[in-house]
Amino acid sequence: MSPPIVSLLLCLSVCMLASLGHAAPNSTYYNPILPGFHPDPSCIFVPEHDSTFFCASSSFNAFPGIPIHASKDLQNWKLIGHVLNRREQLPRLAETNRSTSGIWAPTLRYNKGTFWLVTTLVDDDRAQTDFSRWDNIIFKGKDPYDQTSWSNAIHFNFTGYDTEPFWDADGKVYINGAHAWQVGPEIQQAEANLDTGEVSEWRTIWNGTGGLAPEGPHIYHRDGFYYLLAAEGGTGLEHMVTMARSKSVNGPFESNPGNPVLTNSNTTSYFQTIGHADLFQDGSGNWWAVALSTRSGPNYVNYPMGRETIMTPVSWPAGKFPVFSPVKGEMSGWPMPAASLDIRGAGPLITQGDDDITFAPGTSLPMHFTHWRFPNPSSFTISPPEAPNTLRVSPSTLNLTALNGNYAGPTGQSFVGRRQQDTLFTFSVTLQSFSPTNAESEAGVSAFLTQNHHLDMGIVLLRRGYPGTSSFPGHPPPPAPITDEADDEEELVPHIRFRGMSYIPVPKPVLAPLPRAWWGRPLTLEIKAANVSHYSFSVGPADARSEMQTIITTSNDAVSWGFTGTILGIYATSNGGNGTGAPGYFSKWQYLPQGQFRD
Ligand SMILES: *[C@@H]1O[C@H](CO)[C@@H](O)[C@H](O)[C@H]1NC(C)=O
Ligand SMILES: *[C@@H]1O[C@H](CO)[C@@H](O)[C@H](O)[C@H]1NC(C)=O
Ligand SMILES: *[C@@H]1O[C@H](CO)[C@@H](O)[C@H](O)[C@H]1NC(C)=O
Ligand SMILES: *[C@@H]1O[C@H](CO)[C@@H](O)[C@H](O)[C@H]1NC(C)=O
Ligand SMILES: *[C@@H]1O[C@H](CO)[C@@H](O)[C@H](O)[C@H]1NC(C)=O
Ligand SMILES: *[C@@H]1O[C@H](CO)[C@@H](O)[C@H](O)[C@H]1NC(C)=O
Ligand SMILES: *[C@@H]1O[C@H](CO)[C@@H](O)[C@H](O)[C@H]1NC(C)=O
Ligand SMILES: *[C@@H]1O[C@H](CO)[C@@H](O)[C@H](O)[C@H]1NC(C)=O
Repeated sequence: MSPPIVSLLLCLSVCMLASLGHAAPNSTYYNPILPGFHPDPSCIFVPEHDSTFFCASSSFNAFPGIPIHASKDLQNWKLIGHVLNRREQLPRLAETNRSTSGIWAPTLRYNKGTFWLVTTLVDDDRAQTDFSRWDNIIFKGKDPYDQTSWSNAIHFNFTGYDTEPFWDADGKVYINGAHAWQVGPEIQQAEANLDTGEVSEWRTIWNGTGGLAPEGPHIYHRDGFYYLLAAEGGTGLEHMVTMARSKSVNGPFESNPGNPVLTNSNTTSYFQTIGHADLFQDGSGNWWAVALSTRSGPNYVNYPMGRETIMTPVSWPAGKFPVFSPVKGEMSGWPMPAASLDIRGAGPLITQGDDDITFAPGTSLPMHFTHWRFPNPSSFTISPPEAPNTLRVSPSTLNLTALNGNYAGPTGQSFVGRRQQDTLFTFSVTLQSFSPTNAESEAGVSAFLTQNHHLDMGIVLLRRGYPGTSSFPGHPPPPAPITDEADDEEELVPHIRFRGMSYIPVPKPVLAPLPRAWWGRPLTLEIKAANVSHYSFSVGPADARSEMQTIITTSNDAVSWGFTGTILGIYATSNGGNGTGAPGYFSKWQYLPQGQFRD
């Protein structure tokens, strides 16, 4: 073979690759894109802001609330702030009564230089019949990277939830929302002034296709049609995405004969409950949808991460209803923008995942740390003078259950955590010091879903011989008391206690006096997801990990439930007792991702 032919052949293959390279290959990516407690996603692409994608999600009673994640490439997502980041923006978050209350389903939009976030502060009563305390609200801001730029809530009157703003081409502005389903399952619309919250009379524009609770409406104007997207079926296994369209923004809307456009109902997929979608177009004009999903399989079990954000590619031919690709763990979709980690903002990348936090002097709580309702700011101090490199947590009178799972009262609950984002993980902290003097004073770790569903392991001061006490695992029973028995029963000694709270049966509390050799020593408290269905709770001296003892291995059923997702964190409480009680000093906060199940 002579040299010229070699170079011609070389050119043929190289030049063919080069010309193929013009049409970038389809992408491969993985669901969920925002693992853990990130339900009801709403996402936009904003070319004017450095061609960035922004997503908001529901936060219920978590504070800071309404996280915003940003991405340049649809693969790397970074937490850049929270819309609800100051108490004065929405003081009533302190008073929402039930655990299922709080911020439901935000819609994020960008219009002429301003970011808008429209949502509902739900104040749920047990029967879900009193809507007088539900509050529909608007936040606006110019710079999502500076979370102080988000306004205080602007209130508007609507008997419902899942509200969104829509700007029509003729300059009129609307809010669409889901009318409270107990009153009549309907998608409603009013003209609105987003700056003042003034709204016109609400009218029904669509009743859905007959599924339970038509909700989560989003309108898109395209090719002369107004496309109305909604969720139906409730947020469980029947959840689905349906669409209708009209030539007029006010309807009447005609159902898509191809409904539902997206669901995993009646499939065997690991990804279930898919619904509550939003659509957006990337810089190349390709459409994508985000929606919520639980990794629960059709048996709807063991999904402690709750409702997570998934993404799927969408084809939207002109004049036709869009076609959504089926959702699974490994996805193939439109070519994506080149990978980029160049995203402003102080939070962690969601793919980064791990925590190794030492509470060093001069630092603040990381952006992804979360409380339940507003914290008492004086209850959390980083590196206090008496204990540098710790987080001092002063106890709340109320424990994590608070008042039967309801209203926590103005003093709040001393809890801070981070979302469980991985199927398998190890979360541990060191309780550096804790010197309680009152009975029932407690400091520990929790896998917390809501006030009604949490699994806690703490060090608690109780009198010797407290009912239900067993001997410490791996240690001989405590020696018989040598002093007068009555005196001894008055003696308060540190115990390890595991307690579960849930609507479903949880294991009986595990209660044992701490081994005498561990008193006064820093203790490591650990929660580990050893497999997809079980957590183990362990404790041991921080300087002798080989002595770690597992107190209990228990199913995650108690926190596979409802609307939110598990938050792993720390607490301190006097369990209703009197006095302020001793603070817990926590150090060496670690969260280690150890596996993500996608099928
Ligand atoms: C909270 O809800 C419970 C149960 O529905 C009710 O008994 C209680 O009165 C409510 N508390 C407040 C402060 O609204
Ligand atoms: C809110 O709307 C309801 C139902 O349309 C109406 O009865 C009520 O008076 C309105 N409230 C305010 C403050 O405008
Ligand atoms: C929706 O259903 C109600 C009855 O529940 C009916 O009165 C109304 O006309 C329907 N609206 C539309 C837009 O279909
Ligand atoms: C799932 O199957 C049931 C029973 O056939 C049916 O009633 C329901 O509509 C289906 N759900 C969806 C979302 O297709
Ligand atoms: C690329 O992805 C889009 C969206 O899922 C799909 O419609 C298209 O068929 C894919 N193309 C190839 C070559 O696989
Ligand atoms: C998970 O671990 C628990 C406790 O060791 C065990 O009972 C259960 O069978 C395991 N489940 C799976 C799916 O491996
Ligand atoms: C929480 O504290 C209350 C007293 O305020 C107590 O009755 C309850 O047993 C405690 N339980 C849990 C699991 O937090
Ligand atoms: C708190 O103090 C009050 C008044 O002294 C007393 O009645 C109550 O029993 C105490 N509660 C606890 C939990 O110690």
